[in-house]
Amino acid sequence: MNIILLGAPGSGKGTMAQKLTNELHIPQISTGDIFRKNLKEETPLGLQIKDIVASGGLVPDSITIEIVKNRLAENDCANGYILDGFPRSIAQAEALDTFQNIDCAINLDVDKETVVRRLSGRRFCPDCNGTFHVSTLQNTEVCPVCGGKLIVRPDDSEATVRERLKVYENTTLPLIEYYSHRHKLVTVDGNGSVETVYRRILSVLNK
Ligand code: AP5
Ligand code: MG
Repeated sequence: MNIILLGAPGSGKGTMAQKLTNELHIPQISTGDIFRKNLKEETPLGLQIKDIVASGGLVPDSITIEIVKNRLAENDCANGYILDGFPRSIAQAEALDTFQNIDCAINLDVDKETVVRRLSGRRFCPDCNGTFHVSTLQNTEVCPVCGGKLIVRPDDSEATVRERLKVYENTTLPLIEYYSHRHKLVTVDGNGSVETVYRRILSVLNK
């Protein structure tokens, strides 16, 4: 299945994509993770997008579309994939439709207070891309999966979160209507525990 996870920053796209990847054995393609890897390794792309990501803006569509197009052409995507954080604009969705067939777009619908609570307690592992929350970590410094050093994502600062939410409302929210018109949209209540939300997703996927 070719699945898109839509939703505001902090709605749980990355958390649910990781669980789905393990269960369905199809890769998670996270544009945020791809960009963070380039930032960490200070590649030419990383240097080009550094200020944009730090301020909570969107990387230009032309760059993002090209990266995703190439990534989805790799062998491990032949039996399906989970897109996490792409598309994020109508232009990206239209471009995606020219080179891929999407089965469904799952919109994780989450209250604003929940988003703020989740993002303010998030910890990220730059080594394995694991995402955690302080409320469930025994040690908030060490990745429970690979032992790497956990960090607070730089774009989880209050000012940047505010900007990311604004960008989401202005540029990404119209995708709900886009996929609804194409009868591909499924909205899932994203409030509740990780397991509760995950079960809701499996049930809409008939798994
Ligand atoms: P990206 O990394 O995609 O960030 P985002 O969309 O803002 O989403 P987040 O990763 O913040 O949230 P999430 O929904 O994945 O939630 P998570 O699972 O972590 O993008 C970063 C930047 O890269 C962008 O700002 C932009 O600059 C650039 N970019 C990326 N894609 C782009 C594109 N397509 N075009 C242009 N630019 C692009 O969960 C959050 C927290 O909540 C965690 O702590 C988690 O443990 C916890 N949690 C999750 N679910 C639950 C639950 N059910 N119950 C309790 N806790 C939960
Ligand atoms: Mg994410």
